[in-house]
Amino acid sequence: MPLTLSVVLLAAGAGKRMNSDLPKVLHRVAGVPMVAHVVAAVRALKPSAVVVVIGAGHEAVGRAVAPCATVTQDPPKGTGHALMTALPALPVGGEVLVVLGDAPLLSADTTRRLVEARREAGAAVAVLGFRAADPAPYGRLVCDAAGEPMKIVEARDCTPEQFKIDLVNSGVMAFDGALLPALLDRLRPTNAQGEYYITDLVEHARAVGRRCVVVEGPEAEFLGVNSRVELAAVEAAMQARLRRRAMDGGVTMIDPSSVWLSADTVLGRDVRIEPHTVFGPGVRVGNRVDIKAFCHIEGAEIGDDAVVGPYARVRPGSRIGRAAHIGNFVEVKNATLGEGVKANHLAYVGDADIGARSNIGAGVICVNYDGFGKWRTVVGADAFVGSNAALVAPVRVGDRTNVTAGSVITSDVADDAVAFGRARQDDKPGAAPAMRAKLKARAADPAMKHRKA
Ligand code: UD1
Ligand code: MG
Repeated sequence: MPLTLSVVLLAAGAGKRMNSDLPKVLHRVAGVPMVAHVVAAVRALKPSAVVVVIGAGHEAVGRAVAPCATVTQDPPKGTGHALMTALPALPVGGEVLVVLGDAPLLSADTTRRLVEARREAGAAVAVLGFRAADPAPYGRLVCDAAGEPMKIVEARDCTPEQFKIDLVNSGVMAFDGALLPALLDRLRPTNAQGEYYITDLVEHARAVGRRCVVVEGPEAEFLGVNSRVELAAVEAAMQARLRRRAMDGGVTMIDPSSVWLSADTVLGRDVRIEPHTVFGPGVRVGNRVDIKAFCHIEGAEIGDDAVVGPYARVRPGSRIGRAAHIGNFVEVKNATLGEGVKANHLAYVGDADIGARSNIGAGVICVNYDGFGKWRTVVGADAFVGSNAALVAPVRVGDRTNVTAGSVITSDVADDAVAFGRARQDDKPGAAPAMRAKLKARAADPAMKHRKA
C-alpha cells in the first residue's frame, strides 16, 4: 500500500517587495500565475490532497489554484505556523510535502526524488537543499558527520561558522505525516523574527530520535520571486525551459530568445517560428505551421500547414483552419476560418465564420460592434470578398459570392451573387486642367492664408 501523499503549498506571505496590489503568487510567469506552475509540478506526483495556505483577503489566489483546497492564515506568523494552519485540512498520517508558491521553477522530478528519499530512509523529515552560489538569504543546513541535517539555521540566526555553510534550504520539505502533529506542537517563535519556523522541525525530529535527510537539487529550480527584478529573472529561466522543450519536440526557432511562450502553449511537429513572436495562454498549433516574424497569438487553435504573419494578431476564440493564410496586419478575433482561407493583408476578422477557401481581400473589415452589441459575420465557402469591403454584422455572405471592392455590405448576400455596395464612378472627361488651375489659385490666395497648415 503506498502512503497517502498530501501537499501543502505555502502562499500566505505578504510579498511586500513586489510593491503590488496583486498577491505575489498571482504575478504571471509564462502567462499563468506563478502559483499555478507549482500546483502543476506537485499534481504530477498524484497527491491525494493539495492544500494551499493563503493570506487574508487573497480569495483570488484560491480561484487561481482551484480545485485545490485552501486555508487562510491570518495573520501570517511564519512558515511553521502556515503548516499548522493547514494541518486540520490534511488526511491523518501518510506523508506531507511542503512547497512554496513563489518558486515556480520547481520540477516534478526533483520533488519526486525528495519524497522517495524520505520514504526510503524512513526519515521524519527530508529537506530539499542546494549549493547556493550566494547562500546569504537562505537557511543553512547544519549536518552531522554522516551528512544528515541536525538543524536548519536562518541567516539572521547563524553563528559566523554556520554563516559560511553553502548547503542551504530550498524551503521544500517532506514529512512523515504520522509524526508531524507532535513535531508542530514543539515549535516556538524563539528566533530573530519571532515567527514559527518550519525549519525548526528538523531539530525537533532529531530530538525525538528520528532521522532527517537532505536531497540536493539544482539551484536553478529554487529561484524565488520576491521582487519584480526576480520575477523577470524567473520568467527568463522559465522561457528558456519552455523553448528548449518546444525545440526538442520538433519546433524550429531562428532566434529562440525572442519567442515568448505560455506554459500551456502546444506546438506541433515541424512548426517554424520566426523572431519576435508572443504566445499568450491557450494556444494550440498544428503540424508544419509557419509563423512568421512579429506575431501575437493567444487563445487560438491553428490548423496544420497554416501560415501566420508576419505581423499578425490572433486573439482569443480564433480557429484557423488547415492551410489557411493569415498575413500582415491582419487581426482575427473569436472567428473560425475554414480550410485554405486567405486573409493576407490588413484585415479585421472579428466575430466571424469564414467558409473554406474563401478570400478576404486587403482592408476588409468585419464591422462587428455598433456601440451596444457585438454581431456575427458569416461568409460561406469559396467566396471572394474584395479589398476594403466592410461587412456590417449581423450579415451573411453566401457561398461562391463575389463582394466587389469597397462595398459596404449591410444585408445578406445570396449564394452565387455578386454584391456591389458602393457609389458608382463618375468621370468628367478633360476636366483635370481646370481643376488644377482652381487649386493653384486657392493656394496663392492671401485670404486663405490663415487656413493653411
Ligand atoms: C524560507 C526558509 C529558509 C529557506 C527559504 C528558501 C523558513 C523559516 N525559512 O525563508 O530556510 O532557505 O525559505 O526560499 O521557513 N509563508 C506563509 N506564511 C507565513 C510565512 C511565509 O505562507 O507566515 C510562505 C510565503 O508565502 C513563501 C514561503 O512561505 O511562499 C516562504 O516564506 P518566506 O518568508 O519567503 O521565507 P524565507 O525567509 O525566504
Ligand atoms: Mg523567501
